[in-house]
Amino acid sequence: MTVFKTIKDLQFYLAPFINDGLNIGFVPTMGALHQGHLSLIDESKNQNQITICSIFVNPTQFNDPKDFEKYPITIEADKSLLNDRNCDILFLPSVNEMYPNGTSLTRNYDLGFIETVFDGRHRPGHFQGVCQVVENLLRIVQPTNLYLGQKDYQQCMVIAKLVELMSWNEKLTIHICSTLRETDGLAMSSRNVRLADIERKQASAIYKSLLATKSKFIENEFSKLIET
Ligand code: PAF
Repeated sequence: MTVFKTIKDLQFYLAPFINDGLNIGFVPTMGALHQGHLSLIDESKNQNQITICSIFVNPTQFNDPKDFEKYPITIEADKSLLNDRNCDILFLPSVNEMYPNGTSLTRNYDLGFIETVFDGRHRPGHFQGVCQVVENLLRIVQPTNLYLGQKDYQQCMVIAKLVELMSWNEKLTIHICSTLRETDGLAMSSRNVRLADIERKQASAIYKSLLATKSKFIENEFSKLIET
């Protein structure tokens, strides 16, 4: 696996492949990789001549500074996992490389309804920051295929909207890949390591409750299901 830290070096390396029309698969991440991320790498390896993973903990999508400070960073372990998966390229830029003119948002992405619910509502500015960095990354990497985890379903919808706003629908295909779960049902996530034992148990109860609700959906009244 080749590691690039600058946009210039990455683009110089990629230019001949882009000119030859080869398929480039891209998996953007913030590192602290787990099997969910690696399943995206596998999917990309199956469908493209070149697979690029980026690791960049994007400061502009953290509306809570404490969340940013505590975000797990495990670069050496990540590199070794990516190597084992035969990932071709790791793009590992610094904040200065990604935002040479500072991190303030220079445009407002009109995401419509998607930004008014769930994380859009509870984490103001979060999806604007996601769009800012993903637009930058897409323009740098110029991928043919983009791989995202269904775990972040709202983010998938936001990025699909971003691709539409960029008028890239024709040249980029988004692949939304299945959520991978721990044995207790909790969706794999880099942030899971931050859960205390009790929180970890509570978190896995959410998925179990949803499955139980789904299995009883036909036979019961909706109000009874809510009560249960
Ligand atoms: O899902 C993530 O890890 C991030 O939000 C992403 C898409 C890499 C943008 O920073």
